[in-house]
Amino acid sequence: RSRVLSGIQPTADSFHLGNYLGALKNWVEMQDDYDAFYFIPDMHAITVQHDPVALRARTRNAAAQLLAVGIDAHRSTIFAQSQVPEHAQLAWVLMCLTGFGEASRMTQFKDKSAKQGAEHASVGLFTYPMLMAADILLYKAEYVPVGEDQRQHLELTRDLAQRFNTRFGEAFVVPKPFITKESAKIYDLQDPRAKMSKSGPSPAGLINLLDEPKVSAKKIRSAVTDAEREIRYAPDEKPGVSNLLVINSVLSGRSVAELEQYFAGKGYGDLKVDTAEVLTEFVVPLRKRVDEYLDDPAELDRALDIGAQRARSVASDTLAAVYDKIGFLPPK
Ligand code: TYM
Repeated sequence: RSRVLSGIQPTADSFHLGNYLGALKNWVEMQDDYDAFYFIPDMHAITVQHDPVALRARTRNAAAQLLAVGIDAHRSTIFAQSQVPEHAQLAWVLMCLTGFGEASRMTQFKDKSAKQGAEHASVGLFTYPMLMAADILLYKAEYVPVGEDQRQHLELTRDLAQRFNTRFGEAFVVPKPFITKESAKIYDLQDPRAKMSKSGPSPAGLINLLDEPKVSAKKIRSAVTDAEREIRYAPDEKPGVSNLLVINSVLSGRSVAELEQYFAGKGYGDLKVDTAEVLTEFVVPLRKRVDEYLDDPAELDRALDIGAQRARSVASDTLAAVYDKIGFLPPK
């Protein structure tokens, strides 16, 4: 079976709807057909200022959410990045293969460092994409299920894999992004031309999976739409309505075309009420499952520990081959 790998940062108390629809839903589906590695990049989470107590809690919380959305710890390998030291070790090698100019062109770095004032951005934020490349290349992953915002990092990963293979001999599989077109970018409910993100302009635009369902339903009912009345999918002209259609479609399993038919002649209020219902049906049992997993943190830690051991057995082989090819002395 070929391999998939992906990661989601533990930087908030809850994953958001964009994370789920853009990435996690594919993670769950891909476990059936692939040897799947899913991890929590806690080392990426310290590239911006963080609170240690919150980070530890959020890492466990992230693990609980992964299990609760349907990642199966027996079929898939789930782990925390910091528990597999090979990530940092390979990242160093890849940093030495990356041009300064090449890294400077990463748009996510430019955006995030501009927000903090470039002088204050950490060097870790700058080298973040090389750590991400290491995450992927250690496991020789063929596919990486992510949202559209990670595409440029995947391109860099592919370039680095090819560069290493050409210069030092084949060590890496060149990975492909796995991006579902329709839900690759879920938009902010208040500003439907901006992507939904935890650092968006207004909390009303962001749906956290673990928020009170009533709060989220209200946010959906207050979503920005447009001055027309017609419910149709037209992302450029009607970004707000199209975003609601996509959210509804992916959560309910009805196609966008079916929804357009179903809502023909109905109003935006109907679309919002229906979408809020579909969301509530999804999050109510999810929240319950997350609580159950969080009730037993020792069991969560155990699951992550087993995952880290499985991950290390793969990662250490790749790293050993890389160290050999670049001319380091053999280990004793
Ligand atoms: P992160 O933690 O920001 O996001 C996790 C996943 O959610 C997707 N996503 C979205 N998809 C659609 N619409 C949105 N509004 C939206 N917002 C977020 C992201 O594309 C991502 O797939 N750098 C990564 C974490 C990472 C990683 C890796 C991923 C570290 N190492 C190796 C894959 C492979 C990140 O910050 O994702």
